[in-house]
Amino acid sequence: MIAYLAPDKFLPELLEELKDVKSVHGNLVLTDGPLQSSVWAQCIWLDAQIIPFESITQASKALKALGKFWALYSTENHRRAQLIQDQLPKLRPRVMDFLSPLPEDNLGAWMLLDKNTLLASPTTNSRFPLGEVQFNEDKNTPPSRAYLKLWELFTVYGVRPKPGQKVVDFGSCPGGWTWVLQQMGCEVISIDRAPLEPRIEKLPRVKFIKTNAFNVKPEDIGAIDWFYSDIICYPEKLLELVQSWQASGLCSNFVCTIKFQGKTDFETLKKFLALDNVRIQHLHHNKHEVTVWIKAPSSS
Ligand SMILES: C[S@@+](CC[C@H](N)C(=O)[O-])C[C@H]1O[C@@H](n2cnc3c(N)ncnc32)[C@H](O)[C@@H]1O
Repeated sequence: MIAYLAPDKFLPELLEELKDVKSVHGNLVLTDGPLQSSVWAQCIWLDAQIIPFESITQASKALKALGKFWALYSTENHRRAQLIQDQLPKLRPRVMDFLSPLPEDNLGAWMLLDKNTLLASPTTNSRFPLGEVQFNEDKNTPPSRAYLKLWELFTVYGVRPKPGQKVVDFGSCPGGWTWVLQQMGCEVISIDRAPLEPRIEKLPRVKFIKTNAFNVKPEDIGAIDWFYSDIICYPEKLLELVQSWQASGLCSNFVCTIKFQGKTDFETLKKFLALDNVRIQHLHHNKHEVTVWIKAPSSS
């Protein structure tokens, strides 16, 4: 069986996209059938097994027989679950530096379905406990915490620009993304209708344009390597903006945040999912929003 863990508050979104649902345990959705692609799962338990047990020692032995490192997802019987977890090899925190290599060893995940039943998967799709990616944050330089979304995308998913590439950052104020892109060695055209933080605007290779992003035509900017957008706007408007750049032929790599106001707009999300070469994921550092990336097949 395969189980999908929803990020806090996004269980309804996960349930909307999954088929063959067998049961739901807290934020974990157990399914029958093959692996499904998921926008909303923060961690996928790839080989979930139900294991009855009598004692804490028996439970920990059963887990140790399946794998070495285990992350606990605890929804009930917390104390009993913790006593079992305490008998397993200690899971050290996996706190990443920006662009550092990912931990190599696989992580399992488990939970108690009831006092005498484990649900355990020795393999998951994430190298982080329950998919929770953590960074040694830079609490001084970036002007907003939005930079963590790009840190996660670049470090965990390897979707990065190269030094010297020309990029546009739409909806850039106060400048977290512009700062990350500048640090990557890119030439950044940073666009927002609000002012960029002055110390970010002064950085080399940053050109700030204070205007409405939706009035900027691709031909005004010319060919770019990457389109970035963290604009707060209706998903439909963002889709139009992306498609206008795609139609112009002036850019083939895109990273953008679809931000939902109020209800999740599943209809527009579906339209984004229908684009060629697209991947959409609710990153650990996303709020009520998802990150879209489209990479030209030929670009590395
Ligand atoms: C979440 S903030 C972006 C944070 C930014 N990525 C960072 O790292 O600091 C969203 C931005 O979108 C901008 N925005 C919203 N509508 C816009 C528009 N029509 N044109 C340009 N910027 C817009 C807002 O001014 C705001 O600065």
